[in-house]
Amino acid sequence: MKIAIMGAMREEIDPILAAVGTYTSSQHAGNVFYECVYGGHELVIAYSKIGKVFSAITASVMLERFGAQMLLFSGVAGGISKELKIGDLIMASSLCQHDVDITAFGHPFGFIPEGTLMIESDPQLRSLASEVAIDMKIDLYEGIIATGDQFVASSERKEWIHQTFDADALEMEGSSVACVCQNFAIPFFILRAISDTADGGASDDFDAFLKTSAQVSATFILEMVKRLEN
Ligand code: ADE
Repeated sequence: MKIAIMGAMREEIDPILAAVGTYTSSQHAGNVFYECVYGGHELVIAYSKIGKVFSAITASVMLERFGAQMLLFSGVAGGISKELKIGDLIMASSLCQHDVDITAFGHPFGFIPEGTLMIESDPQLRSLASEVAIDMKIDLYEGIIATGDQFVASSERKEWIHQTFDADALEMEGSSVACVCQNFAIPFFILRAISDTADGGASDDFDAFLKTSAQVSATFILEMVKRLEN
């Protein structure tokens, strides 16, 4: 099977490239795409740059140009749920866009006509992840991830996102990638390790924990790849 693995930042895919060893690379639409064989699968790996627009471009290219049949996202997030500590892993059950606001026309926050407020990730990939977590003796949380083109570093904004969407974590790419995969009917899985708790200390924590949390997420994703059937 051809599997896309993407992150948003170079730091999020560096541990994956280091683990797979040898790969080829090519450029398209402003990104570098790395290809290799790993765990009996063809992989295409890329980082998109930050945010919903860049991540949607990268995901679309991975599916349309590289023919990926599944997409796995690995990266970091700001924690909302009090249960989530820095370094903990959360897989998205569903994702939403917290910065979409056409409430002036009577729509709820996050809703776009002809779209859905929440996009559910692939249930089979989530159950595979649960098995991997048990075997690796890792706590894997499952919950709603809210995406927006904002680095959230405020308790008020974080609380609003929690109250409005019942979200457990937030980041800047998951929901746009989910939207691409939903529209191309491709199974997807979004995994994030917590780098900060999206409050006043978020930017310092993000800088301090980006690499270590990205490594936690990457290690888990590669274990999933090894267990995927062809
Ligand atoms: N990714 C990791 N931490 C984040 C935060 N606080 N806001 C948005 N995206 C993030």
